[in-house]
Amino acid sequence: MKMTSSLFGLVSMNVFVLIVLTVFVQPASSNRLTVSGTSFMLNNNKVFLSGGNLAWINYGCDYGYDFYPNTKPKVEEQFKLMKQAGGNTMRIWIHCECVSSPLINETSGYVIAPDNNGKFLGDVKDLLDTAEKYDILVIPTLWSAGKHPRLHGLINDTKKLQSYIDIVLKPLATKLKGHKALGAYDICNEPEGILIRHSVDTDPCFDTRGVNFGIGWHGAFFDYKHMLRFINLQSAAIKSVDPGALVTVGIWEGKVITDKFNMVNRYSDDCLRKAGGKKEGVLDFYSVHGYSNAIGQTFDSLGVFKHSAPDYGVNKPIVVGE
Ligand SMILES: *[C@@H]1O[C@H](CO)[C@@H](O)[C@H](O)[C@H]1NC(C)=O
Ligand SMILES: *[C@@H]1O[C@H](CO)[C@@H](O)[C@H](O)[C@H]1NC(C)=O
Repeated sequence: MKMTSSLFGLVSMNVFVLIVLTVFVQPASSNRLTVSGTSFMLNNNKVFLSGGNLAWINYGCDYGYDFYPNTKPKVEEQFKLMKQAGGNTMRIWIHCECVSSPLINETSGYVIAPDNNGKFLGDVKDLLDTAEKYDILVIPTLWSAGKHPRLHGLINDTKKLQSYIDIVLKPLATKLKGHKALGAYDICNEPEGILIRHSVDTDPCFDTRGVNFGIGWHGAFFDYKHMLRFINLQSAAIKSVDPGALVTVGIWEGKVITDKFNMVNRYSDDCLRKAGGKKEGVLDFYSVHGYSNAIGQTFDSLGVFKHSAPDYGVNKPIVVGE
């Protein structure tokens, strides 16, 4: 009697466990790239992102207008080579510093269209369709933190940024929603390139005195408060139309994604939300770059080639984006 009942107990427990597993496993069976803890998942399996930063064919002039017929065969060749080499991911830059797209009214600084002939959105969609043929995930990098005043207007003024979000970003995220070749959106390449050194702020998220060396190599234009707001608002906009889309940023160095080593993780949910006010406007993983310094050929002591991911103490995956 005792045995029967315990056997029954065991069986019913198994049934219960099975049901619970089914419920939890189902969302991960998505064939889109997702994040689970500090891992990436694809088709129910953990996946290691391995690939390259193609960046561009013609800087800022690859999508929209009449650029794409020139771009496509060259990018497709790179997808083919990447596939042959065993890679699965390609990072590709879209607007760069606002060289051609989006189309901006030069008088007002507001975005008026993606481009001048309505081709931009279809071109980026075709880029992903092409990548899918080679099982490559594309990480479109929207912006590159350079000197161009058109881009600076969007970073500086949230009304101008909102015109970009409404006219380009949300339509783009809607068009690409659920695409199998969409790896993640990378909002901006190396924001630190246009940050102000010695920026004093009572909030450690925005104070740059701890990272003086190295930032602002394109000029001193913004502080982290502006830059993180720029990222937070765009991430939230993407997630408002495609909640399953992953979002990241092409971050300059490992030292700005960690709260350890007396540093501050500038890209934490907390810092991003403080800057832009949008709860959803956070990153799903950290894409960090690592270059040796030109003189000594040495890496920063907190750089990605000097550490293992757990050293940074973050609860999201880390990719070496460059
Ligand atoms: C560009 O902005 C100016 C100034 O706000 C405005 O007068 C003009 O109509 C705008 N042009 C277009 C094409 O939107
Ligand atoms: C940002 O806007 C302020 C106020 O309009 C202006 O003084 C400043 O020069 C702008 N900064 C950049 C980098 O465009």
